[in-house]
Amino acid sequence: MTSTHTSENPNSPDPAAATDTPAAAAPDGAPLMLALHQTVLGGPEVLRVTELPRPEPGPGEILVAVHAAGLNPTDFKHRAQGLFLPAPPLTLGWDVSGTVVETGFGVTLFRPGDEVFGMLPYPYGAGSHAEYVTGPTRAFAAKPAGIDHVQAAALPLAALTAWQALVETAGLRAGQRVLIHAAAGGVGHLAVQIAKERGAHVTGTASAPKHAFLREIGADACIDHRSEDFAGTGERYDVVLDALGGETATRSVGVLRPGGVLVSLLPGDQDTRTAAEKAQVNAVTLLVEHDRAGMLALADLVDRGRLRAHVSGTFPLAEGARAHVLGETGRTTGKLVITVR
Ligand SMILES: NC(=O)c1ccc[n+]([C@@H]2O[C@H](COP(=O)([O-])OP(=O)(O)OC[C@H]3O[C@@H](n4cnc5c(N)ncnc54)[C@H](OP(=O)(O)O)[C@@H]3O)[C@@H](O)[C@H]2O)c1
Repeated sequence: MTSTHTSENPNSPDPAAATDTPAAAAPDGAPLMLALHQTVLGGPEVLRVTELPRPEPGPGEILVAVHAAGLNPTDFKHRAQGLFLPAPPLTLGWDVSGTVVETGFGVTLFRPGDEVFGMLPYPYGAGSHAEYVTGPTRAFAAKPAGIDHVQAAALPLAALTAWQALVETAGLRAGQRVLIHAAAGGVGHLAVQIAKERGAHVTGTASAPKHAFLREIGADACIDHRSEDFAGTGERYDVVLDALGGETATRSVGVLRPGGVLVSLLPGDQDTRTAAEKAQVNAVTLLVEHDRAGMLALADLVDRGRLRAHVSGTFPLAEGARAHVLGETGRTTGKLVITVR
């Protein structure tokens, strides 16, 4: 179920006004747009809805009117620490679902009016937490007709991560056993569905109140990370998807069969590498990449009713900082989405 959070801050721009009126123009006539913007690194309070020049599509790019944009932990990390991006000013956001407004030189895949969803090139292409964003055409695919923009915006980064980890990196096959850590989270709940679609036996870790949700999306077995030790069940897996890192990554090596694959979403440490070498398992760290083939594969899964994002909260652009506060707890189920139009 989707919950909607509305503005309680009288100083916040009215999101309806922000979306229902055409963008104002700068004195030189250049169109403006609203963006969730920051000029310094810090907590969610550094985010401000700010008027900025509307970007123009360069060669091979499309300009997209953003309808909705997913929020990911990398948004919180970049807001606070900069991480891979240059120093602020910054507009974050990699997930986008919207309508093509303009195409740059040489674009043949899309036309103005097309509905698209995609993940902007990670990390340098951020900027979807705004009314408009540009990106290379091959970061996008046609939005599946059967889902709305909120659903579509929840998918790209998290689902591409799950796809690239399980299918492309681990080569997950029917009949294999996979352990998915943080299975109720943004990446995890999509990974569970992708693994089931591949015909794998899926075990997920989550706190007990989330086990009914995991079963609903297809998990065969659940481990309560608060009261059970995933490494103490005696189960052996062909693949582990680890979105937690640290000790969880190292201990995950011990539950893999020889020749198994550990795909970590956080940087591995020497302990994990040493344990992996000893256990003869393949331990790799994945950084998600924009990927049109992956987007087409995800769209196909959506069309066939095999993949659906669980959106546990939506926030208008003006309430984006509140979305960061909630997401940063690390306890949300499924995805949070910023709604722009
Ligand atoms: N390398 C990459 O390209 C890449 C891509 C995407 C994400 N990531 C990283 O992967 C991590 C997860 O991303 P996400 O979007 O899935 O995050 P998320 O949606 O914020 O994950 C939240 C979930 O994590 C679960 N969780 C927290 N601690 C847990 C534990 N000890 N055991 C099991 N579950 C636990 C929570 O469930 P409970 O409330 O039940 O504990 C919650 O449902 C983040 O650090 C993110 O930055 C990396």
